[in-house]
Amino acid sequence: MELAGKVALVTGASRGIGRGIALGLAEAGASLVLTARDAKALDEIAGSIRANGGNALALAHDLREMNVAQAIVSRVAAEPGHLDILVNNAGTTKRGDFAALTDADWQDGFALKFFAHVRLARAAWPLLKARHGSLVTIGGTSGRKPTAGFTIGSSVNAACAALTKALADLGKRDGVQVNCIHPSLVDTDRQRGRIRAEMDRSGRPEAEVRAQFCREMGTTRFGTPQDVAALVGFIVSKRGSWLQGATIDLDGGEIPVL
Ligand SMILES: NC(=O)c1ccc[n+]([C@@H]2O[C@H](COP(=O)([O-])OP(=O)(O)OC[C@H]3O[C@@H](n4cnc5c(N)ncnc54)[C@H](OP(=O)(O)O)[C@@H]3O)[C@@H](O)[C@H]2O)c1
Repeated sequence: MELAGKVALVTGASRGIGRGIALGLAEAGASLVLTARDAKALDEIAGSIRANGGNALALAHDLREMNVAQAIVSRVAAEPGHLDILVNNAGTTKRGDFAALTDADWQDGFALKFFAHVRLARAAWPLLKARHGSLVTIGGTSGRKPTAGFTIGSSVNAACAALTKALADLGKRDGVQVNCIHPSLVDTDRQRGRIRAEMDRSGRPEAEVRAQFCREMGTTRFGTPQDVAALVGFIVSKRGSWLQGATIDLDGGEIPVL
């Protein structure tokens, strides 16, 4: 139980990668604070963590709202009273033709995946500093390999990596570890939605569409939330403590350059 006694706050914890990270950290002994909008899903995950002997608190909020980050951190400061790990994972950004994406699409994408991360990092920093804690951001390989069909996501993920470097510099002074993971395709609802849409459009079976996605992306296979959780678990453990300011491609070989 490498993370026994640690408290971890995970955003976007109701499903997908965030859920996987939360369960992975709980398995390693951390107490979890889970946040996302879907209260029912959060309660179910918190319940399953408790049923396995762990601690979990579910806080349902829309992270795009201005005061939410501070409200969550104030709640954590009151109970459980400290914070060791913050995983900024929540994010959804609209794909599509650049000309068709509106200001609202851009603002929405950045509101959740960038500004909410900034606000949470700022609000949680004193708690992380007090515990020599760790901040991990989930970006995405599009931040390193931007594409025409994913302009918002590419931009926001690159911004996440830049913020990671800047906060890692501050973290050297304050004793806070700051890193970022860029996953390639991960098998979550969002990718399953894209797979279903392509199956409907092309009439081809799921296995073929999945293989095509991986081929086009240049990755060996779809990753799993557990793949991402394992790397987060390593980074925040004693074994990963020399990592500072790193953005790690977790991508089955997608990124072909140094
Ligand atoms: N899946 C991939 O292939 C992939 C690849 C690279 C990077 N990523 C990144 O990994 C992260 C997680 O992706 P995922 O595939 O797990 O996504 P997902 O399945 O769509 O889950 C997104 C999570 O964010 C939460 N969320 C959405 N809007 C929110 C809001 N306004 N306020 C608070 N929480 C909100 C969702 O919960 P509620 O709906 O309950 O609010 C959910 O828990 C994202 O940052 C994504 O960009 C994913």
